[in-house]
Amino acid sequence: MSSINVGLLGFGTIGTGVVRIFQKNTEIIQQRLCHNIALMKIADLDITTDRGVKLEAGMLTTDVEEVISNPEIDVVIELIGGYEPAKSFILKAIAQGKHIVTANKALMAVHGQEILDAAQRQGVAVMFEAAVGGGIPIISAIKESLCANQFSSVLGILNGTCNFILTKMFQDGSDFATVLKEAQDLGYAEADPTFDIEGVDTAHKIALLSALCFGTTVDFDQVYTEGIDQITAVDITFAAQMGYKIKLLAIGKNHGGRIEVRVHPTMIPDSYQLAEVDGVFNAVRLTGDFVGPTLLYGSGAGMDATASAVMGDVMAIGRDQLSGARLRVPIMGYCPDQIKALPIKAMSEIVSHYYLRFTALDQPGVLAQIAGCLGEHNISIQSMIQPERHEVDSVPIVLMTHAAMEADVANALKRIEQLAIVTQSTRLIRVENDLG
Ligand code: HSE
Repeated sequence: MSSINVGLLGFGTIGTGVVRIFQKNTEIIQQRLCHNIALMKIADLDITTDRGVKLEAGMLTTDVEEVISNPEIDVVIELIGGYEPAKSFILKAIAQGKHIVTANKALMAVHGQEILDAAQRQGVAVMFEAAVGGGIPIISAIKESLCANQFSSVLGILNGTCNFILTKMFQDGSDFATVLKEAQDLGYAEADPTFDIEGVDTAHKIALLSALCFGTTVDFDQVYTEGIDQITAVDITFAAQMGYKIKLLAIGKNHGGRIEVRVHPTMIPDSYQLAEVDGVFNAVRLTGDFVGPTLLYGSGAGMDATASAVMGDVMAIGRDQLSGARLRVPIMGYCPDQIKALPIKAMSEIVSHYYLRFTALDQPGVLAQIAGCLGEHNISIQSMIQPERHEVDSVPIVLMTHAAMEADVANALKRIEQLAIVTQSTRLIRVENDLG
């Protein structure tokens, strides 16, 4: 093998980053790989837009077959995104014996099994470091450096757009819609930011991380997903008064074989390192039984950081090829026959602390009625603030509970909202404050 040859599908932002890192760091990549490596072909429907990088004549093509069926190409990088045609191209490339590197979290989280089965049969690698946390080497940490650990939890701030919005809302006291517009103007949020703000992008990522950490398949449809569009400046202010920040937190936990995989706005104490992850940055907190809590932090998106992760995967495959290793590291970090289908706990069964903001009439006995209902449902109050009245007649009552079961909280809220003194629906935000 005179060179590890690479083909690229998708010449968008990340694809351009891959070309840039290939060109700028050729020497160091080859010094570290101990071998030549070459980007041979790039396929994209648009081969006329100037991406600000110079390419050799003939490198660009609109014909995807010139990459996926090219006998000279060893590794195919898929940066098209979405389910189709990315999935068909990847399956076809695998069938032709190509190793795959992808940044496609949606595809891997939803259709990963089909791709993994095909890769396993063919004996080729599928690597997707760039799919989670951009440039942060979280997947290789789980699969390699920390692989002797049993993980009890993986928590992440995994969406830069949401984290930017929540950070600005906290810093400026602005409302969600204003900051979303700002994020779009700055180019952080997509023109259609639905997947980001509704938490779907984060859910794709925590589904993958939970599968890798706990050695399980994760049915994406069972991942509870709540976005940040209902977060208000009022709740951010009350959270701050109680010593908390609100983050869109991805949570994976393993309780002796039953797992939690969920995404929702979460209040975390402002003393936690995760609370200091601001702006577009991402972070993942892993807890392994021997390594203990470990935080990885960095750029979770963007052309260069994501290209760095893509090229790390390409080089890992190149090294294995050169050493004659065949799937040295299992694709999902566990031997395929050891991967289980661990049950995901229903949200009604989870135990959490809760921030509850009631809106009720400002009259004697209101607090007693609310506290009474909570008590009847086994919910104990940890702290409370009753700020000044914001609206005519109504007053906010803000409570933090001790650990409670979500089903009990749901039943209590149903009952409380039937009380004549309650004037608006209750705002609930889960709290993660027992990380130790
Ligand atoms: N849209 C994502 C984010 C980046 O805002 O973090 C790609 O996963």
